[in-house]
Amino acid sequence: MDQSSLDQQNKFYWNEVAEDYQELCHITVENFHYAPLIAGDDFFKLLPNDLSGLKALEIGAGGAQNSIYLAMNGVNCIANDISEKQLKFASELAERYDVELGTLCCPMDNLINELDITSEEDKFDIIHSSYALSFSSDPKKLVQNLSKILKKDGIMLISTGHPAFAGEWLDLGEDDLGEGMFLKDYFTPQADTRYDEDGQEIVRSTFYTVGEMFDWFASAQDLTVERVIEPQAMDLSNIEYDDIINVMPYFSHDWMELHEQARHIPLIVIIKVRKN
Ligand SMILES: C[S@@+](CC[C@H](N)C(=O)[O-])C[C@H]1O[C@@H](n2cnc3c(N)ncnc32)[C@H](O)[C@@H]1O
Repeated sequence: MDQSSLDQQNKFYWNEVAEDYQELCHITVENFHYAPLIAGDDFFKLLPNDLSGLKALEIGAGGAQNSIYLAMNGVNCIANDISEKQLKFASELAERYDVELGTLCCPMDNLINELDITSEEDKFDIIHSSYALSFSSDPKKLVQNLSKILKKDGIMLISTGHPAFAGEWLDLGEDDLGEGMFLKDYFTPQADTRYDEDGQEIVRSTFYTVGEMFDWFASAQDLTVERVIEPQAMDLSNIEYDDIINVMPYFSHDWMELHEQARHIPLIVIIKVRKN
């Protein structure tokens, strides 16, 4: 299948699931999230201290809760997504919180051609994405293109799936072994693929090794990798289940079923890079 047909399929899938996604996932706009189950930026402190007047671009934004958080802190934000339904939700949410939000509906791999960036002024101070780069057809090329529209000293803040979580959680059947992750092949991690009723693949979220991901950024022009974080899921030992939704920036009951696993194996990788 050619790239434009894959994009159409991807768009169709995300339009179909957008309403459920936003209903089932409780994502706050009061914090900047990196993934389900993980603490927000109030804990990681990767965003600049002073956000006021900066310009930001979010890739695969979904409901754009992170862009809305930034906009509420004085950032001029554009949110990209392939799904117009996700972006419709994002625009309505921005209106509810009384902030301006620009939206750009296109596949992330075409983004560079859709933006009219002609000067350093037009470029972004922050390019960010939470759990969406795995849907790019060529994340290395995407990162190289994004680096061209990042201002000098600007940052890219990307979280995406950790390859060690792309295995199967097994009960090892022995008291002293307990349970753990069975990872068949770290070097070719298995993609998370969704199929239609006829067994045809409709959407694929691809995992990469940590080394490969590091190289997307390290090989791009003028980028310095500042942090690579493999976060542990939040410690919830002193929190009642009903209160978790108030402390976890991205909560869902489905994701909570994986909380114990994500206390032992990193669910995502967060990478922070700076433009030289
Ligand atoms: C797992 S969701 C994450 C959404 C959001 N970043 C969040 O943290 O809630 C992935 C998002 O990527 C979007 N997406 C998938 N493929 C895309 C593509 N090729 N270009 C742009 N967005 C895409 C989907 O529509 C969806 O909103």
